[in-house]
Amino acid sequence: MDRRTAETPEIDWSKYPVPRVRHHVNSQAYLPAHQHLFVHHQYPPLRTDAEWGSWFANSKPASVLDLGCGRGAFLIRHALTHPNVNILGVEVRESLADYINGVISGEGLKNAHALWYTLANGLDWIQPGSIDYAVYLFPDPWPKKRHHKRRAFSQGFLKMVHRVLVPGGRLYLATDRENVDAYQREVLSASSLFSISPLMDDTTWPFRFTTDQQMFCDAKGIPYVRYAAEKC
Ligand SMILES: C[S@@+](CC[C@H](N)C(=O)[O-])C[C@H]1O[C@@H](n2cnc3c(N)ncnc32)[C@H](O)[C@@H]1O
Repeated sequence: MDRRTAETPEIDWSKYPVPRVRHHVNSQAYLPAHQHLFVHHQYPPLRTDAEWGSWFANSKPASVLDLGCGRGAFLIRHALTHPNVNILGVEVRESLADYINGVISGEGLKNAHALWYTLANGLDWIQPGSIDYAVYLFPDPWPKKRHHKRRAFSQGFLKMVHRVLVPGGRLYLATDRENVDAYQREVLSASSLFSISPLMDDTTWPFRFTTDQQMFCDAKGIPYVRYAAEKC
């Protein structure tokens, strides 16, 4: 089922052919720069500050983050539905960030930007207490135990998200992988920074539009879970 509704503005996606992308970029990109002796020239650039003035027409900081924004369906739909809210997507695959920014400029959107960056290097360049909510939707599963270190979700991830959220701000989570859900709940339970909401459904999930992976799951009948972690 496609959860787009008549009230959800939509664009003609056929104008924007999706580039061919590898499933994963090189494995270095999922680990912080300080863990590498040599950093590959295609490693996502590090940041010391945000460039709100060049990312958003009103030059104001983002108040919403889409962490691991993929092909950007959620980001674009969020920007269309909330024209006065700046949303910043973070994506480790450069070609996808470029693709999304092409859609943003093609549609003349003023309040969205996709940043080629790896979450492994943190969000220190975002002001503390400035983000109303962040989403981390359908993350890469990295199912093999030895690859778990490439998952962005960790105690460090929770600390960095907690730091940027406003008091009571939420991190919205969705996954179609049971083992990812169990892993994330374990990480959350070991932290005192967030409280976990009950599972959400269409009536309690606050977004009326879908992500790319969610559309895939809906089309194939693959179940998924959604919930929020609220900043304590
Ligand atoms: C399975 S896709 C889901 C994309 C989108 N959120 C959706 O629901 O359709 C996960 C995305 O997270 C990105 N990603 C994984 N690790 C990342 C990291 N360390 N930093 C930034 N993006 C990352 C991947 O490149 C991929 O595009």
